[in-house]
Amino acid sequence: MSAAQSGRAVVTPVERPRRLRTTPALRRLVAQTRVCPADLVLPVFVREGIDAPTPIASMPGVVQHTRDSLRQAAHEATEAGVGGLMLFGVPTPEHKDAEGSWGTRADGILNLALEDLRADLGDATVLMSDLCLDEFTDHGHCGVLDDQGRVDNDATLQRYADMAVVQARAGAHVVGPSGMMDGQVAVVRAALDGAGFQDVGVLAYTAKYASAYYGPFREAVGSSLQGDRKTYQQDPANATESLRELRLDLAEGADLVMVKPALPYLDVLRQVADLADVPVAAYQVSGEYAQIEAAAAQGWLERDRTVLESLTAIRRAGAQVVLTYYAVHAARLLGR
Ligand code: PBG
Repeated sequence: MSAAQSGRAVVTPVERPRRLRTTPALRRLVAQTRVCPADLVLPVFVREGIDAPTPIASMPGVVQHTRDSLRQAAHEATEAGVGGLMLFGVPTPEHKDAEGSWGTRADGILNLALEDLRADLGDATVLMSDLCLDEFTDHGHCGVLDDQGRVDNDATLQRYADMAVVQARAGAHVVGPSGMMDGQVAVVRAALDGAGFQDVGVLAYTAKYASAYYGPFREAVGSSLQGDRKTYQQDPANATESLRELRLDLAEGADLVMVKPALPYLDVLRQVADLADVPVAAYQVSGEYAQIEAAAAQGWLERDRTVLESLTAIRRAGAQVVLTYYAVHAARLLGR
């Protein structure tokens, strides 16, 4: 009995989108978004005063490095074709104080590690450094405090200016001011130029939200923060504010702009990417990593597919560069 005889209408689709999905080769040919190892930046932690790499419980597979193990890891990441590294320093508790002094000392852990990697790798990769005080302050805030205990924007800017010059001197190609102080990009740019580092770039944390997704990172850097960062990081409820931050960062001389976290903020990323005339980055943060790892460990998500899909989504939403703890793993999955 034919469909007509049975009384069912015969509908022949006018268009058949499935045609382009027929074979793997066709799907590959028409894929609109690609993720390449060179797009990925690996965030790394280097900790002072340890003899061996130390696992971070809430980020399975990620460690706090010694200076030596970081050199090895940086070499491997470069070999894998990863586009760059973003360094975070973890000083000993004795090297934390109210001003974050060890962030601006040439013998502070972050600056020593930058020196190591620049000596080993030269210009073979892009060395980026976190330009923020939170890892170095005993109160854990991203800036210095006033006598009321509030984060003092303009006093912090002076610290960032010093930090930028020290990091550039130590070998950073790009500095990443992540403290969300008003005016930070302009101050950092002026300090770098004033010290003769015109070619050191600024990756501006343009839209950085006060996010629960940074939870595991706080363990990774041994953060001593009491309270929260809501007076300087953005309210997750706001999108338009990111466009204001973008306008300011571009005017102040940002070379790249970043949205962070990534996956929960793809709408913000898309809006920023539509307006920015510089490369846009996004940071798949510690909590995004931990979510995938936790579900994969339970057998609830396929790790590799989830990793590649999340990175593809971040690229599709407009990020040219993605900071991800999966950078090396993903680079190996993707091949060169
Ligand atoms: C601040 C900084 C943070 C992260 C990067 N830079 C933490 C914070 O703002 O509390 C988070 C990165 C991550 O969660 O992976 N220096």
